[in-house]
Amino acid sequence: MNKKSDLKHLLWVSIVFWGAAYTAIEAPFSLVFHGRIHTWQLVLDAVFSIIFGLDFYFHYKEIKSLENSKSYTKRLKAPKPFAKYTFLTFDFVACIPFDLLGAFIGLPHVFIILRLLRLFRVYKIVQTINEMANVPTWFRIQVIAIISLIVLNWIACGWIAIYPKPDDVSVTSYFIKCFYWTITTVATIGYGDITPTTDGGRIYTCFIEIIGVGMYGIVIGNITQMMAAADRHKEQTREKLNDLLLFMKHYHIPHHLQEAAFNHYNHLLSKRLTDNDEKIISELPHALQDEIQIYMKIKLISAIPIFHGLGHECLKEVAKSLEQIYTAPGDYVIRVGEMGHEMFIIAHGSVDVSIADGTIVANLHDGQIFGEIALIKETTRTANIISQSYCDLYKLTDENFKILTKQFPKLLENIEKNTQRRPTDKK
Ligand code: CMP
Repeated sequence: MNKKSDLKHLLWVSIVFWGAAYTAIEAPFSLVFHGRIHTWQLVLDAVFSIIFGLDFYFHYKEIKSLENSKSYTKRLKAPKPFAKYTFLTFDFVACIPFDLLGAFIGLPHVFIILRLLRLFRVYKIVQTINEMANVPTWFRIQVIAIISLIVLNWIACGWIAIYPKPDDVSVTSYFIKCFYWTITTVATIGYGDITPTTDGGRIYTCFIEIIGVGMYGIVIGNITQMMAAADRHKEQTREKLNDLLLFMKHYHIPHHLQEAAFNHYNHLLSKRLTDNDEKIISELPHALQDEIQIYMKIKLISAIPIFHGLGHECLKEVAKSLEQIYTAPGDYVIRVGEMGHEMFIIAHGSVDVSIADGTIVANLHDGQIFGEIALIKETTRTANIISQSYCDLYKLTDENFKILTKQFPKLLENIEKNTQRRPTDKK
């Protein structure tokens, strides 16, 4: 799945999640207050039933496509018949608009509770998140916040079921009071201004105090863990730069060299090219390492004009042939008059193009190419290429260039068109 469809999927899951959360909060609330169902509740019931209906349909289609897939690994992912029918039944019941049915055909009030089957979706969403490798922090925080709210609301409703609302107090004011009791009990603050007066109430309070400690710990623990993960990379960067500074000071390294070293580190760190990243990839199986690197190269080159209109197959072959190199400011990547054996793509950074007398004729940067003339015309280099900043370049050898342009003539056509536009490259 790509980033866009990942985001779309997460947004859809969020909508379904909100629908389930609304039901999980509203159903016990309506039950304990025996409230009249308002028109806005009927409208929301209809909207969420449609959303759940769509979700049921998407889910059904997904299961069918897994079952009928030609790929063995995909077929393995399809749920077993028991799980499939259980999931689908729960999902189907969740689509039924019980509030609407209650209002129009007079279902007993207790049927509201059947809508809680929508909660099953919350469980499935949590499962989906646990299976996904890369879930954004905003989504995780949203899930934790809503689940906490649902649980707190239930606890408050439980208290209301034991101590029903007196007639002279409004629903809002009584709910706020009970919610306040819930928070002070779960957080083990217990001011003691609202206390149980019956055995049932005392047992309930004991129970809530015990689960409250656990719940509090889980929520705080999860949020702390997420914050720490988001900050880890920044912390590593700070540590590296600190070490570098101490090293420079200890050995009295001249100022211009210090600056060059800091620039280089900043460049690597800003691109996340840390030792740690390389270590993470190096621990994966070789075949997977290669696939990830090819994927990253395809992502980079697909945005470059000379690769526009070329199929995935071509991009993949080019990506396989590219080798990454780094250059520092002032490095000569190409010297005029030499024989050329490779061309380059600038992934990041900028280079100057100068002719034999040293005049700079152009400046090339991210996404542009150079060194192609010597390969196309089989002549010597027509200009010098000097790194102007720290650059990440991708190198394509003469041999691979020949193989690729033979296999994909459109690639050669695009490169030649790019070369003809050269005079306009000057900044
Ligand atoms: P090549 O001759 O192989 O090596 C030097 C490279 O500099 C050349 O290929 C082009 O890619 C690039 N080059 C030469 N002249 C210009 C120009 N006027 N504008 C931009 N790039 C150029």
